[in-house]
Amino acid sequence: MPRRIGLDLGTDYTRIISEEGKVFRFPTVIVMDKYAERIAAVGRNAKMMLGKTPDHMEAICPVRNGVVANGTACSDMLRSFFEEIGMSSLSEVFVSVSAGITEMEVTNIRQAVYGANVRKVTLVNGIICSAIGAGIQYRDIRGSMILDLGGGLNRAAVLSLADVAKYSAQAAGGDAMDEAIVAYLRQKKGVTIGLPMAERLKIQVGSAHPRVKKAPVTVIGQGEGGRGIVQTDVTSDDMREALSAQISGIVELVNRTIADTPPELCADIGDFGIMLTGGSACLSGMTQVLQERIRVRVTMANEPQDVTAKGLKILMESGRVNEYALR
Ligand SMILES: Nc1ncnc2c1ncn2[C@@H]1O[C@H](COP(=O)(O)OP(=O)(O)OP(=O)(O)O)[C@@H](O)[C@H]1O
Ligand SMILES: [Mg+2]
Repeated sequence: MPRRIGLDLGTDYTRIISEEGKVFRFPTVIVMDKYAERIAAVGRNAKMMLGKTPDHMEAICPVRNGVVANGTACSDMLRSFFEEIGMSSLSEVFVSVSAGITEMEVTNIRQAVYGANVRKVTLVNGIICSAIGAGIQYRDIRGSMILDLGGGLNRAAVLSLADVAKYSAQAAGGDAMDEAIVAYLRQKKGVTIGLPMAERLKIQVGSAHPRVKKAPVTVIGQGEGGRGIVQTDVTSDDMREALSAQISGIVELVNRTIADTPPELCADIGDFGIMLTGGSACLSGMTQVLQERIRVRVTMANEPQDVTAKGLKILMESGRVNEYALR
């Protein structure tokens, strides 16, 4: 039976929304067996293999910084996801994409989704989806600001009258935080860990604010200069230091966007505050640190990782999704 679905093709997570409103989440990862020329794993199983694959296997993250970096791997991965949820024949897929991407990036996304056995692909402005999913009154004359901290991109947008007044993005996000944690532990503690471990540390002990502290965690890694396997304790203060440049980058992104926004809309943002979305919004102390440094009220959306998918679903149900389609 032909079907329409929504797709949020994120750098770290792919979310699929069925016409009935059910949301499926998969890590955006595929593992290929290079010798056998077949897919070895996708989604959750593939993510567990990151950094651990033998030589004849290759773990691929086909989306980087919000755009398709490996089209063939992306099509293969999507086809597997669609099959897994029993939707291998799709008449139309609405895909939320980052605003401000190039023509070439638009073409790559389209081709990757068409390659997954889809008859029609319609691209939709992702930041509008996020705003709707977060419950922002985006049709209002009042200006509002959304800050989406994802896996591969941080995005800031000012919305008014159902349109995007200002938009800026930076190629940073949760993945860059994980890289910063790896670099910090290597430099400060002489221990090398992998990115999956860095992500676990970020979620378990991570902190963006000095008042938010969690119990230290012992990590095991590779010692520098042939010291073999070593272990070290990692505290929330370590995490805060490791992530400080990332947090400053987010503050700069917001300030840069505000500097470019008409004063009347800035006044509205001062009243209404900033809505925080995306998985990296869940970093402990994120809301507090941004509120203190930007000096504007910051509110985290409910289930911030899923708001883009949720907004896409609301748009699809309303029948207005084509108003925000990319031409
Ligand atoms: N509790 C947490 N603390 C810190 N980071 C978290 C937490 N939970 C999830 N994250 C991070 O959120 C990121 C994923 O966010 P999200 O799902 O919004 O990204 P995405 O939509 O796949 O990426 P993008 O929109 O940038 O393409 C990951 O880097 C993950 O480590
Ligand atoms: Mg996202």
